[in-house]
Amino acid sequence: MYVLSFKPCTHGFGSHDPSAALFNDGELVFAVEEERYTREKHAGTFPTNAINACLDAEDLSLSDVDRIVLPYIPRHRNKIWKSKWKRAVAEPDSVMDKLGSLNWRLKDTIQSQFFAERAVREKLSEIGTPLPKIEQKSHHECHAASAFYPTDYDEALVLTVDGSGEYDTTVVWKGDETGLTRHKTFENPNSLGHLYGAVTDFLGFRPLNGEGKVMGLAPYGGPNEEIESALRSVIDTTAEYDVTEITGERDMGVGRLERLFGRSAKATPTEFTDWEKDLAYVTQSLLEEIVTNVLRRYVHELDIRTVCLAGGVALNCKLNQVVEQAPFVDELFIQPVANDAGLALGGGFRDDDPVRKSHRCPTPIGGRSTTTTRSRLSSRRPRSTTERATTSPQRRQQNWPTASWSAGSRGDSKWDRVRSATGASSLTPEASIHATESISTSNTGRSGGRSPRRSRRRHSTTTSSTPPPPHT
Ligand SMILES: [Fe+2]
Repeated sequence: MYVLSFKPCTHGFGSHDPSAALFNDGELVFAVEEERYTREKHAGTFPTNAINACLDAEDLSLSDVDRIVLPYIPRHRNKIWKSKWKRAVAEPDSVMDKLGSLNWRLKDTIQSQFFAERAVREKLSEIGTPLPKIEQKSHHECHAASAFYPTDYDEALVLTVDGSGEYDTTVVWKGDETGLTRHKTFENPNSLGHLYGAVTDFLGFRPLNGEGKVMGLAPYGGPNEEIESALRSVIDTTAEYDVTEITGERDMGVGRLERLFGRSAKATPTEFTDWEKDLAYVTQSLLEEIVTNVLRRYVHELDIRTVCLAGGVALNCKLNQVVEQAPFVDELFIQPVANDAGLALGGGFRDDDPVRKSHRCPTPIGGRSTTTTRSRLSSRRPRSTTERATTSPQRRQQNWPTASWSAGSRGDSKWDRVRSATGASSLTPEASIHATESISTSNTGRSGGRSPRRSRRRHSTTTSSTPPPPHT
């Protein structure tokens, strides 16, 4: 049975990182992001190319697919609009501004509630008909599934952290043989992703894009009492964290930061002052503190020391390093495609029988072929079983967000050439790619006499960091 899971990026289904994944009888057979075809970072368009690539991988037409999963439930967004309506009424705008804002929100609410899936059906019809049955699954549930189902853990605490998915921002799950159970939910606008995004915006980067560069800037800064006490005066960093005084603002927080620090946000991310580097450092430290506090609380409460991470914030490899080294975490798995592009994976995994799960993601190299280009327009021919079996996974691209920046060690000529060719800044995190087997080998070699806890399984791409660290 074929299941096609994809993030649409049409109205109501989010606006970035469209992707698609194909499953055959519960096994992942192909997954790819739309941006690999459009060459536009984060894409933001319907994933026509990614869907076609999934179908091509198994010589299928859309009508051969038994079910489609959309890892998003647009009607859940209505809770966001309710809170934004209240804010729009309360904000000191003119009557005309208020009416304009309310009118826009009303239209958006109606579209999300009644017409979101219709746009998806229309786009799919351009690929093929008849359309399979379509199901919607919750955003954070799919993030959680993408992190828990590929593992062989019998049970795990699964933490999903992002800007916001529908209405949730951070969710603690218990994963076990019965599947995933929601244990604790933080809701919009209490968002760690948006807190980091506000600082990203304040430093002149584009939110939902430049967060990795803020992480890269952080080690150039250092502790700064003035910045830290200002931020601590408006946020709560405990396990019941609250950052809404910043993230609850209509501009997602950059204006609140300007008032808090008495400084204007940077227009462009160039020539950072020491103060700005310190802001990145302190923000990174506070993020690590909050996530550590949340994990410590719920590891204790659930009595589970095995942790899985997903959601866009889990792309922060410096944070992941802190989690990996936390004394209360014994085992850790981080979904490499932790951002929304990984929702397609989770949507398909979530469809599976939880007791059959394990090792469903044996290699991160499951994406677009680098040696063969097969077009939907080309004549089709069935491929033999032998031919499919000999398709080397090494000839397919890795399928996670740091792919563009993989190179040698920082500062060497290879990395410089990649950076120059791609336009990547010196702050862009770099990561290398390793199969799980080689990670355990290299880790053992690096650390010599390791304690039993240090020999646990981990994933390299999401716990490595590029920037030269004066302060780490
Ligand atoms: Fe997300």
